[in-house]
Amino acid sequence: MSSIAAAWRKLPWWVEPVTVVVALTAFGIYSLTIVLLFPGTYEEYVSPFYSPPVGRPDWLPWFITAPMFILWIPLGFRATCYYYRKAYYRAFFWDPPACLARVQEKEPRSPENYRGERAAFVLNNVHRYFLYASFVVVAFLWYDTVFTFFPEGSFAIRVGSLLWLLNVVLISAYTFSCHSMRHLVGGNKDCYTCVRGGNARRKLYNGVTRLNLRHPHWAWLSLGSLLVTDIYMRLLQAGLISDLTLIG
Ligand code: FES
Repeated sequence: MSSIAAAWRKLPWWVEPVTVVVALTAFGIYSLTIVLLFPGTYEEYVSPFYSPPVGRPDWLPWFITAPMFILWIPLGFRATCYYYRKAYYRAFFWDPPACLARVQEKEPRSPENYRGERAAFVLNNVHRYFLYASFVVVAFLWYDTVFTFFPEGSFAIRVGSLLWLLNVVLISAYTFSCHSMRHLVGGNKDCYTCVRGGNARRKLYNGVTRLNLRHPHWAWLSLGSLLVTDIYMRLLQAGLISDLTLIG
């Protein structure tokens, strides 16, 4: 992993922002397409994009689909994530495109004019509330995952269940390594010996901090696993592949 990171750092400075633009644009187009045009699920597998499945009143216009009632939570969580903010500010707005001094002249606006979390971006300040809502979504994803190991009521391990398990582990790592999570579990305390359960909170804070060191990795890995599991479900749905049973 460290050799990959070292090789990545040797690439020209513009490779990272361009990669981010391509990856996030592709993810956004894919999310919108499935939510608007293909909102279904496949038997035991619920799409990880919009779990839990919810109902939709008939009087709503066609372009408001049931998954939209759920998808705003993970999308809002990622859009306001501190790591993704850094990534898309650099990639989409070139503000700045990189932190190397020699590319500063390529920044379209003077750093003095940086407007930070103002105008529409003030919404980024609600990130912690998206985190709280994400706890509910992650709980449902774990429920869905356990359910995939019991097709027709008895235990079995299938390729799909392993994919769902990997996905929920990565999404949990991404969610619980959040910077707002660090604040929630202990970062908001100046003195652990002054509060009830201070030692436990300190240990929890240190654990989340260790997870947080890899937050960008969890962000990209969980984005990839979301795509892979959803595409797998749609291939099953279309009858193009069958779900291999490994045990059971
Ligand atoms: S900082 Fe990335 S999810 Fe909270």
